[in-house]
Amino acid sequence: MKPTRPTNPGAAGEPSADVRETGPPGGGAERPGAAGPGGAAGSAEHYLEVADLSVAYRTAGGEIPAVRGVSFGLEPGSKLGVAGESGCGKSTVALALLRLLPASARISGRVLLEGEDVLAMRWGRLRAVRWAGASIVFQGAMHSLNPVHRIGDQIAEPLLLHDRAGPAQARARVAELLEQVGLPAWRARSYPHELSGGQRQRAMIAMALACRPRLIIADEPTTALDVMIQAQILRLIDELVTDLGISMLMISHDLTVLADTCDRLAVMYAGRIVEEGPADDVFAAARHPYGAALSAAFPRVGDPSSRRAPRGLPGDPPDPAALPSGCAFRPRCPEVQERCAEVDPVLWPAGPRRSAACVRVLSPEQARAAGVPPAPAEEAGTGPAAEGEPRADRDPQAAARPQPQPEEM
Ligand SMILES: Nc1ncnc2c1ncn2[C@@H]1O[C@H](COP(=O)(O)OP(=O)(O)O)[C@@H](O)[C@H]1O
Ligand code: SF4
Ligand SMILES: [Mg+2]
Repeated sequence: MKPTRPTNPGAAGEPSADVRETGPPGGGAERPGAAGPGGAAGSAEHYLEVADLSVAYRTAGGEIPAVRGVSFGLEPGSKLGVAGESGCGKSTVALALLRLLPASARISGRVLLEGEDVLAMRWGRLRAVRWAGASIVFQGAMHSLNPVHRIGDQIAEPLLLHDRAGPAQARARVAELLEQVGLPAWRARSYPHELSGGQRQRAMIAMALACRPRLIIADEPTTALDVMIQAQILRLIDELVTDLGISMLMISHDLTVLADTCDRLAVMYAGRIVEEGPADDVFAAARHPYGAALSAAFPRVGDPSSRRAPRGLPGDPPDPAALPSGCAFRPRCPEVQERCAEVDPVLWPAGPRRSAACVRVLSPEQARAAGVPPAPAEEAGTGPAAEGEPRADRDPQAAARPQPQPEEM
C-alpha cells in the first residue's frame, strides 16, 4: 500500500472546524496552532475537545478496533450530531468520553473537558464530572432506571451526593426538574413501571440535568420510542439545551433527527469520522459517498427527488477486526476508483468548515501534496473538472441521486 499521511494523526489545524482536519493536504500537525499530542492542551473555544481517540475491545477472538483516531471539538452551547450505521463506533465514542467503557476496552488519545484530561482523572474527580461536567442520556430508559426505586429518589440521588443538597432542597429541585421535562411534580412518587416509555425518557433527561451539567451526551435518546413521542422528546431536549446554554453531542442513526436538532454533523464509518460540517450542508450535499448514501436513505419533505432516492446501501459495514485495505468504504462505494485500494483517506478540507475522508474531494495539487495517487482521468491527461462544474467526483451525492426518467425530462 502506498504510504500516505498517518491516519488521523492527532488533532491538528485551526479550531475553525469542529472536527479537526486530521490530514490536511500539505498541512498536518505541523501547521501553526496545531493542538496535536504534545501541542496546546485544548482550545479556549472548545468545552469538549477529543483528539485522536481510539478504542479497541479485547475479546477471545482478538482485538476489535471499534474507534480509530476520532478527533472533534465542541464549543460551549453548540450541538454536534454523530450519525452512522449500527456498529460504526458511535456508542463507544460516547462511553469513552466519560470513561464508562468496560474493562476489556483499551483506550488511547485525549478527551479534554474544559482543558482537563478525562482519561487521566482520578476516580473521585471523574464521578463529579460525570454529573456536573457532562451527563449521558441513553437509549433505553427502562434499563437505566432502577425498577425498585421511585423516580424522585433516583433524580435526587446525585443532588444529595454531589451537590450536597439537604432533603428538602433536593425535593424542591426534583419538582423543578420534573416540571422542566414536562412531568407533574407528583410523578416523583412513581416507580419506573408506572410511567410510559416517553415519560421514562423524560425522567432520564431530568436526572441528566440534575447537577446542571454543561454537556449532555444523548445516545439514540428516542430510538426505542414511537414516532410521535420521539418528536416530543427531541423537541424537549432541543429546547432545554438551547434555553440552558448546554452543549450537546447527539448520536443517532437517523440523519433527519440530527439535521433538525444539531448545528454540525459528523458521519462515522468503521470507527472513523468520514465527513463533518454544518448539519444542513452535510445533509443536503454530502461530500463523502457514504454520507451521501446515508442522507439519501432519509426522504426530505418537499424534495420530489428524495421520493425516488435509493434506500439503503448494498452490503454490510465491514467487520472492524478485518477491515479492507485502503479506504474502509471501498467494497460498498458506488464511486470507487483504483487508487482507493492504495490510500487510507483521512479528513481533508472539503468546503467552508467542512471535511471529508475521500480522495475525490482532493484537487490534483492537494492529492500530490498529500501523497495520494492522481485520479484516473488526471493520469490520462483529461484533467479534472473546473471548480464549481457539476461532476460526480465533486458532488458524490450526485451518484446516489436518481437520474430523471425520460418522461420527466
Ligand atoms: N463490550 C464490547 N466488547 C466487544 N466488542 C464490542 C463491545 N461493545 C461494542 N463492541 C463492538 O464495537 C463496534 C462498535 O460498537 P458500538 O460503539 O456499539 O457501535 P454503534 O453505537 O455505532 O452501533 C462493533 O463492532 C461492536 O460489535
Ligand atoms: S476514497 Fe474511494 S472508496 Fe473511499 S469513499 Fe472515496 S471514492 Fe469511495
Ligand atoms: Mg450505539
